[in-house]
Amino acid sequence: MLSKIDLQKFNTLIEINTLINSNYEDAHSLVTQILDSATRLCDCESSSLLLLDRDAGELYFEIALGSKSVEVKRFTVKLEEGIAGWVVRHNKAVIINDVIHDTRHLHTIARQIDYPTQTMMAVPMRVKDRCIGVIELINKKNNQLFVQDDLEWLEIFANQAALAIVNVQSIEKARSEIQQLQDQLKTDQGYHTMIAKSPIMMTKLELVERIAKTDSSVLILGESGVGKELFAEQIHLRSLRSAKPFIRVNCAALPEGLLESEMFGHVKGAFTNAIADRRGRFEMAEGGTIFLDEIGDLALPLQAKLLRVIQEKTFEKVGSGTSITVNVRILAATNKNVEALVAAGEFRHDLYYRLNVLPLYIPPLRQRPEDIPELAAFFLSKGMLETKKQFEGFAPEAMDAMLAYSWPGNIRELENCVERACVIGKNQWIQEEDLFLKKTATPPFQEVGSRDLKSAVTAFRAYFIQKVLEEHQGNQTETAKALDIQRTYLSKLIKELNIHVG
Ligand SMILES: Nc1ncnc2c1ncn2[C@@H]1O[C@H](COP(=O)(O)OP(=O)(O)OP(=O)(O)O)[C@@H](O)[C@H]1O
Ligand SMILES: [Mg+2]
Repeated sequence: MLSKIDLQKFNTLIEINTLINSNYEDAHSLVTQILDSATRLCDCESSSLLLLDRDAGELYFEIALGSKSVEVKRFTVKLEEGIAGWVVRHNKAVIINDVIHDTRHLHTIARQIDYPTQTMMAVPMRVKDRCIGVIELINKKNNQLFVQDDLEWLEIFANQAALAIVNVQSIEKARSEIQQLQDQLKTDQGYHTMIAKSPIMMTKLELVERIAKTDSSVLILGESGVGKELFAEQIHLRSLRSAKPFIRVNCAALPEGLLESEMFGHVKGAFTNAIADRRGRFEMAEGGTIFLDEIGDLALPLQAKLLRVIQEKTFEKVGSGTSITVNVRILAATNKNVEALVAAGEFRHDLYYRLNVLPLYIPPLRQRPEDIPELAAFFLSKGMLETKKQFEGFAPEAMDAMLAYSWPGNIRELENCVERACVIGKNQWIQEEDLFLKKTATPPFQEVGSRDLKSAVTAFRAYFIQKVLEEHQGNQTETAKALDIQRTYLSKLIKELNIHVG
């Protein structure tokens, strides 16, 4: 017949097992739960889970529970020291009911944290007989002594904890291998074909040629979809670093903590789930170029860290005190108004000046209509491959419509528009209606009759705001951004100038 406490232990083990088998990825909280259950069910005051760092030849406190949990986590234990070290060396469990007189006990830690240890149980955490860490339970309550039955239960819990950790380690390992393969793919063949015909793009490409030969940081600016990433690729490809990696980081894609470890890497134990060391993107880019996209979204603490990389070429991995030196060229891009961000205190001005050594502004598509026919033909041939359909090209009305349209989403919008037309098109030539372009409602600016400057300026203001509003599909927040004015000021102007919205 099972006792009540045995029944509780069984039930807890079943719960833990279910969690482990459900591919639970937060190893730290799962193992904390295992240790907490073991501490409660064995009725003792405190406990710790130490993990083995074989390279360093020591154990570190992954989890500590009890009144001195914070203090104890500062320590590491050498393999030749203490009861935990003994357990690893012998791969054996022990009960010590008279710790004070045990020569193996590391009295220094107990004394420094002022926590007298009377009784203790320590068991190895094993994976296929290999010890990966130690669980210690300390001071059985009510002056009780640990017995063999306690030890057997603790061994079962320890094996569960080992299993949970190894499971997550293999998920992490697989993920980092996939990531490396993806990076490899991107650096090998992830470059885009750049189409450029307009005189303005020719001068930009000449500038790129000159910029490419230097090691200066470049800040690439321009509206969304203008091809900033392609320009970054071109700078790298035309540089002396072209045989080395081109590594992309999207600063807006991850929350701050994850982004920091993505950029700079982390060391084992730096935070929950940091079960193995990880290389960051800066290390991956060694000798090559790093492209920091959406730099305007970078959180202030990371801006400080980035500034140091630019100035001193060094950084530390998350959770490490050791500096790493890299030889990486930095390119950054954003569609935000960085000067406005600096003024608002959201972007460090020193970082802005450092990045902005060579600014490269990519003009919107509406300012270079000469590129439209060539880009459209390029996207049409891509679309034909994807849809396995054949078209001769664009009907003249379709081309005229594309040339007259303002393309608020720039080349990305043109690309989507042509791809969609490929899917929809039923004729030999792509028709105007296949493109679904919104007709531009605002005709070109008409001079007002009177010659006084004030009314001419007012008329132009109203015309211009109307046009930009239209380019942003009536979205006032986006329009205010494009006009570089406050959203509230835009509303005021719309009212004052009697502008029609929508
Ligand atoms: N000159 C070009 N030739 C061919 N394709 C281009 C060109 N410029 C941009 N594209 C295509 O347009 C799309 C948008 O380009 P890209 O991602 O570089 O824009 P972006 O400026 O980085 O935009 P965002 O600010 O939204 O990130 C991509 O699919 C890209 O391949
Ligand atoms: Mg981009």
